[in-house]
Formats: sequence, C-alpha cells, structure tokens
Amino acid sequence: MARKIIVLGSTGSIGTQTLKVADQHPEKINIIGLSARNNIDLLEKQIRKYRPLAAAVLIPEKALELKKRLGDTSTTILAGKSGLKALAAWPDSDLVVVGLVGFSGLEPTFAAVSKGKTVALANKEALVVGGELIMAEAKAKKAVIIPVDSEHSALFQCLHAGGKKEVAKVILTASGGPFLGWNKNELSAVKPARALKHPNWKMGAKVTIDSATLMNKGFEVIEARWLFDIDFKQIDVVIHPESIIHSMVEFIDGSTIAQISLPSMLFPIQYALSYPERWENNFPRLDWDFKRNLTFMPPDRISFPCLDYAYQAGAMGGTMPAVLNAANEVAVEEFLKNNIPFLHIPVVLEEIMNKHSTRLNPSLEEIVETDTWARQESRYFLRS
Ligand SMILES: NC(=O)c1ccc[n+]([C@@H]2O[C@H](COP(=O)([O-])OP(=O)(O)OC[C@H]3O[C@@H](n4cnc5c(N)ncnc54)[C@H](OP(=O)(O)O)[C@@H]3O)[C@@H](O)[C@H]2O)c1
Repeated sequence: MARKIIVLGSTGSIGTQTLKVADQHPEKINIIGLSARNNIDLLEKQIRKYRPLAAAVLIPEKALELKKRLGDTSTTILAGKSGLKALAAWPDSDLVVVGLVGFSGLEPTFAAVSKGKTVALANKEALVVGGELIMAEAKAKKAVIIPVDSEHSALFQCLHAGGKKEVAKVILTASGGPFLGWNKNELSAVKPARALKHPNWKMGAKVTIDSATLMNKGFEVIEARWLFDIDFKQIDVVIHPESIIHSMVEFIDGSTIAQISLPSMLFPIQYALSYPERWENNFPRLDWDFKRNLTFMPPDRISFPCLDYAYQAGAMGGTMPAVLNAANEVAVEEFLKNNIPFLHIPVVLEEIMNKHSTRLNPSLEEIVETDTWARQESRYFLRS
C-alpha cells in the first residue's frame, strides 16, 4: 500500500524536492496534503497534479482565492495557522514532512507529534526552540521523528552501526558556506546577493544566509542534541568544503562511520520517506573514476561567532535557544532587505541573548511568548 504523505511547505525548496522524490515512486507514495504560505500559483499546480485530500494556506485571503480557483476539485482548502495545524494532525496520514521555514515549524510539528504521527523533519528550528518539549511529547505519544537535514540523516544512518552507549561523539560536517576563509574585514562588505550564492547547495533564502554565518551549523548542533539525546560535549563540527561526507559518528573503539553521497537533498528526503526501507532511484551517483580530494578543517569561530552562540544557548537550555532563533530570524530578514550589514547579524544575537534570563522546561505557550518578546527586542535594538 502506498504511504499517505502530507507535505507542509510544499512550495519551498524541501517541499518541491519531496514531490520530486514522490514522482520517482508513484506506487509507494500517495500525496494527501500540501501547504504554502503565500505562493498559491505553485500550490494550485501541485494540487491539480497530486489531487490531495486537503491543502492549507497560511494567508487567509490567499486561501480564499485558491478555494475559488479550485472549485472544480474535491481538495479541502484550510486557512491560517489553525488550518496548517489541522493539516499536520490530519487523521488519515502515515507521514508528515515538515518543510516549513523558521519558527513557523514549531506548532505544526508539535500538532503532528501530539497525534502520534511519523514526522520527517526538515525544519530544524522546531527542535532548536522546542526540542525538549517536542521530544518528550513524541515519547509520550509514540510519535517517530525522522531527520531530513542531510547531516542528521547521515548521523541517523551511521548510528545503526553501534549501540547508544558505544557512541563517543558525533561529528557534523559543514561546507563552510560562501565565505569560507574570509576574515572579519572581508566579511564587513558582504551584500545579500553574494551571501545567497551557496557553493554546494541550492536552498531557501533563510537557510542559505544561516549557512553563510554558520548559524545553520549551530542550529544543527542543537537539533542533534535533541534528536539523538546526546550531550553538547559529544557534538563536534568540522568544515568539509566538498560536502561529500554528510556527517560521522565516532564510536568508543576509535572507529568512525561516515555517510557519503553527492550533495543533494533528494537522498536524505527519500531516506526519510522510505525508512526503514531503502528504495532504488535514478538520482545522480558519485563518480569514483576521477581524482577527488576531501578536505577537513576546524571552523573559524572568530569570524563566525554564531556557531558558539548556539552552543551557549543550547547549554543554557530552556527558552534561550528560542531567543537565539528569533533574534536570528529578525536579523536575517533585515540583512536580506539590505538594512543591516552581514557582521551585524551576530551582534543582534549576542545583544538579545544577554537581555534574557532563560526559563527552564518551557511550555509551548512560553516558547511562543519568548519568541514574540525576542522579535520585539531585536527590532527595537535595530531601530535604536
Ligand atoms: N532547502 C534545503 O536544501 C534544506 C536543507 C536542510 C534543511 N532545510 C531546512 O528545511 C526548512 C525549509 O527550508 P527551505 O529551504 O525549503 O525553505 P523555503 O524554500 O523558504 O520554503 C519554505 C516553505 O514554507 C512555507 N512558509 C514560509 N513561511 C511560512 C509560515 N510563516 N507559515 C507557514 N508556511 C510558511 C513557504 O510557502 P511560500 O512558498 O508560499 O512562501 C514554503 O512552502 C528550514 O528549516 C531549513 O533550515 C532546508
């Protein structure tokens, strides 16, 4: 029987690639739900192609317009945040892919987990801001979270090689982004168009800027802490510009297991959809017939301080990672509008984190409140 899959954020980079994977396996995957924030032109095309049971649009007026356009179909159109959460918790699904970006992933992910769903999670911010809460809820409701992020998919696969007590540490690889090797002086003049040119990966704008600041790797450190229930001291980061090794696990006997493929999200997305099986596909393979160098180096923590802010926020725990995330979302938005310089992004994070006293074991409501507070403070700081 085909797996009934809901794709939240189907118009984005992860969403459209998930549908590419679905196209490879029409007999194994049945798309029953789709969602967008605003892009109803693409969503309409997707609905006409996949004929899902339901689709959600965040912006209510856009939802209404889409409903009018799709009068000749039977797809139920849901609107707003509540519509998105209803789709995430849709009773008749086997798997929910969360390809939403930023904080918007938290509540739908929580809604899916609360219903005991299997969740293929690309939205790392959900675990950054609410990892403790989501993992506890997943345990209570017997929900399964399968990582989609390439690094965490790699760790998930490598961890099959040994028991939990046999893990010495996990090593997240990072491409280093477009500014690998640049010093602060060189970084001071960076403009959005340049920062959006990632050397290895084609992704949405927000995660591409996060890759350029190494914030993305910091978020992945926190994501790994929660996904694999591992201490921050056991999570290392290494720069590997070729993005061929997607991450590694070092076991207590000194053996290190790595996962290798071309840098394409199609591989980890498909693994999350097929798990625990592996399915054939026609995605491009690594060519071993020519000379290839793989390089590794430590991250530059001076020019790219966001990585350490994530370790700090993660170690403080509670609401602090939500503050880091919200400040980062505001700063990235302002940088993309060309309103602040690239090097101002970490300044905003440090400032807002310093203003916050973390609250431990936050509820969902407290995380949402913290997010709102940190966004306001960040905007106020940037105006002053
Ligand atoms: N892209 C990658 O290769 C990649 C790799 C690893 C991890 N990730 C992670 O995957 C997540 C998605 O990244 P992406 O690059 O696919 O992002 P993206 O291209 O910006 O797509 C985001 C999707 O979410 C929708 N959306 C945006 N804001 C929303 C909101 N406030 N509420 C509800 N829906 C909203 C968008 O709809 P509209 O199109 O209508 O705006 C779109 O469908 C991020 O957490 C990212 O870190 C991405």
